[in-house]
Amino acid sequence: MKRIVLGLCVIAAACAPKKEEQVVVEVENTAYYGEQHRLQFHFSPEAHWMNDPNGMFYYEGEYHLFYQYYPDSTVWGPMHWGHAVSTDMVIWEHLPVALYPDDLGYIFSGSVVVDKNNTSGLGTAENPPLVAIFTYHQPEMEKAGKIDYQYQGIAYSTDKGRTWTKYENNPVLPNPGIKDFRDPKVFWYEEGQKWVMSLAVLDHITFYSSPDLKSWTKESDFGFELGGHGGVWECPDLIRMGDKWVLLVSINPGGPNGGSATQYFIGDFDGKTFTPQDQETRWIDMGRDNYAGVTWSNVPEEDGRILFLGWMSNWNYAQVVPTEKWRSAMTVARTFELKAMEGKHILASYPVKELEKLRGESIAVNASGSSMDLMKDGYQLADMDLTITSEGEALGDFELQLYNDQNDTLKFGYSAERGAFYINRDTAGNNDFSEEFNGDQLAPYDLDAKEMPLRVLMDVGSVEIFVNGGELVMTSLYFPESPFTNARLVTKNPQPIKAEGNIYKLKGIWNR
Ligand code: FRU
Repeated sequence: MKRIVLGLCVIAAACAPKKEEQVVVEVENTAYYGEQHRLQFHFSPEAHWMNDPNGMFYYEGEYHLFYQYYPDSTVWGPMHWGHAVSTDMVIWEHLPVALYPDDLGYIFSGSVVVDKNNTSGLGTAENPPLVAIFTYHQPEMEKAGKIDYQYQGIAYSTDKGRTWTKYENNPVLPNPGIKDFRDPKVFWYEEGQKWVMSLAVLDHITFYSSPDLKSWTKESDFGFELGGHGGVWECPDLIRMGDKWVLLVSINPGGPNGGSATQYFIGDFDGKTFTPQDQETRWIDMGRDNYAGVTWSNVPEEDGRILFLGWMSNWNYAQVVPTEKWRSAMTVARTFELKAMEGKHILASYPVKELEKLRGESIAVNASGSSMDLMKDGYQLADMDLTITSEGEALGDFELQLYNDQNDTLKFGYSAERGAFYINRDTAGNNDFSEEFNGDQLAPYDLDAKEMPLRVLMDVGSVEIFVNGGELVMTSLYFPESPFTNARLVTKNPQPIKAEGNIYKLKGIWNR
């Protein structure tokens, strides 16, 4: 980056005399992915509007990521599937748009499966097809006041996902007269030798099954009595995890901190019905900015991981955030793990280990007191791997503050009084575009331990916080004047606290 700045300074100085800061700003704005607020180690489209991740699958060494994309504007519009691939879920290569709207409608969210046995007959035994199952949303029918304007279609690829052909007899699952009928996520249910689809239907989930991805039969409904019902259910994903099953369901609005969020249920699935283990509603992320996330299909058995990624935004303000050329980024890829906690299971998530490839130099942290600088004029992109310990009975209150030279400050911590972790971005920069962006994001938590491991991923405008190995996660955007390069830890406790660990500098993924 420095070299570019110097080079262009010479050109700029030759053209017109400018103040040094102005030249730097000009250079930053022209660098690839160098615009203000452009995240540096998260996926975002080169330009224009993006929302949900779609159709994520692994195939022959590549992780595919499709996404809801409107290539003509920075706000939501006629949906396409944008496309990117990666060999490690960290560095992404943009590919051409995979699916365009047609007479049947916009292309809404959905999934992709590798049809290994060519059950669909859309490929051959030697070259099995990749099949995308997605929702068509017909805007004219919607405008005409009809309710059956969402139905499911399929498309297939026999060239490693490079080109896609829509199936000639779409739709494969017509609308039964229900307004919200979308976001099919499909997997192969080995025991029953059939495909199973989870579909978001109003504010519940309906499971369908199929022998060939073309004809679908309803199996059961789930969720009338359970979970949040403050909004429409979207983007389900039923995941086998050992001998348990986890059902992800995004809901908007109705998230625990306002607007969009993703709840999950743990239980059993017999090929027909999902039976939850208890009545509790849990959330995969208690921050405001992780929505519509689902898992990759076809991850090799030898790998064995459940790999997830979400849209790092919230419908409450996604379309008005202060980015100019593009809107939205994805979270980093994360692994899911079921952890036993007090006799129950919870779903923990943690950054994939591949992300550590971006680590460069580091600052060793070993500090104690009631106010400690952990990093001063340090890294704009940081991976903080810390353990915070109290010298008293229990950890009590602590607050991590990330800030820049203009004193824009993001605050994250634990409040013993409120019995909750919190993030507050009210003073973290530009926040006047939406009332709903502001105020505490709270995650109730009983912190009676003396010690707490924290992993914090800081990009130039997002933070992803993983508490205690990811059993609590908070993801949040912010829009500072300039990136944060400082971190401070403070406590109101009478006893000092201690922070140990490392802060790694991360490389960006776009200018390599
Ligand atoms: C979730 C969602 C989906 C829908 C898509 C449309 O954010 O509303 O339910 O398929 O976005 O872009």
